[in-house]
Amino acid sequence: MIPVCRLEDLPEGESVRVETTPPVAVFHTDDGELYAIDDTCTHQDASLSEGWLEGCLVECPLHAASFDLRTGRPTCLPARRPVRTHRVTVEDGVIHVHLAAEEGTAA
Ligand code: FES
Repeated sequence: MIPVCRLEDLPEGESVRVETTPPVAVFHTDDGELYAIDDTCTHQDASLSEGWLEGCLVECPLHAASFDLRTGRPTCLPARRPVRTHRVTVEDGVIHVHLAAEEGTAA
């Protein structure tokens, strides 16, 4: 379980990159939901935390593939492979990411 930041430091509509190995992107959607996925696009080497968040989708900043934050699956080309999703919890006001590999639930 990896602490990310305080919930109030990640406003809705924003994202943050966590320097894990591999890096993870945490998103706070406009609906108030928190999601974490692998930060690196499966198409090429782009940081999805720098992408555009719209609802439960994030658009890659490099070639505009879009990923569903709930499943990690791409919703359009050029990305074909999903990113891993990770569980997110908030404890005492701090966002935590539970890496899928740590929990043995790699997607
Ligand atoms: S690097 Fe993400 S779509 Fe190409």
